Amino acid sequence: MRLDKFMVSTGKLSRSEAGRAARSGRITVNGVPEKKADRAIDPKVDQIALDGEVLTYRRYTYVLLNKPDGYVSATEDTDDPTVITLLPDELQRIGLFPCGRLDKHTLGLMLLTNDGPLSHRLLSPRRHVSKQYFYTSKFPLTADEIATLQGGVTLEDGYVTLPAVIEQGEGEAQGTITLTEGKYHQIKRMFEAVHNKILTLERITFAHLTLDGLPERGMWRYLTDTEIERLRAHGQSGDSHIT
Ligand code: URA
Repeated sequence: MRLDKFMVSTGKLSRSEAGRAARSGRITVNGVPEKKADRAIDPKVDQIALDGEVLTYRRYTYVLLNKPDGYVSATEDTDDPTVITLLPDELQRIGLFPCGRLDKHTLGLMLLTNDGPLSHRLLSPRRHVSKQYFYTSKFPLTADEIATLQGGVTLEDGYVTLPAVIEQGEGEAQGTITLTEGKYHQIKRMFEAVHNKILTLERITFAHLTLDGLPERGMWRYLTDTEIERLRAHGQSGDSHIT
């Protein structure tokens, strides 16, 4: 691959910046300054450094974000800030997008990646990847309403939801709901179907990923190699992951 393309993939420099950095001697290949940004390198063999910092090649990048209120799950928006703007500059240039949407006022766990094929598989309704949310609602759910929502409820457009799991303390207007699908405004619409209203929503898991290590809204971190491997395994399986 070309040296400048490698630099772009790391998120450190744009292609034109890579050209300038090379010409001014900031880039080394195997310890030797390289002036030609269009030269071929092998990312598996060659050691590339920028200003002395050795860079690792990643075909795809996976980032976990604790989404704050008021940000939209999109790469661009004319009215509101997007979740992408919460990331450092170099991560804003490598084509990351949200793997699944959260509403503007929903908080919590969001996976961002530029791995289109994996994202597509994880969001496929056939994979049944589970997502757990903490909710607060206007009224506590009754035992009958919990049974209805868990078994599959008919939404206002006629869609019947897949089985879900709800855990709510008796008489409490809050709890957790676990889904294996992600229709538009799904949880809000499910609660409306039983004449209730969602007040707040926070996603706390996506597949096996949790908010551990991201205690504050707006914090982000890279997925570990083990987490990426497990996500790929989820993406290959067709089984339900609600347990
Ligand atoms: N269900 C909703 O209604 N909103 C979300 O953001 C996620 C699930």
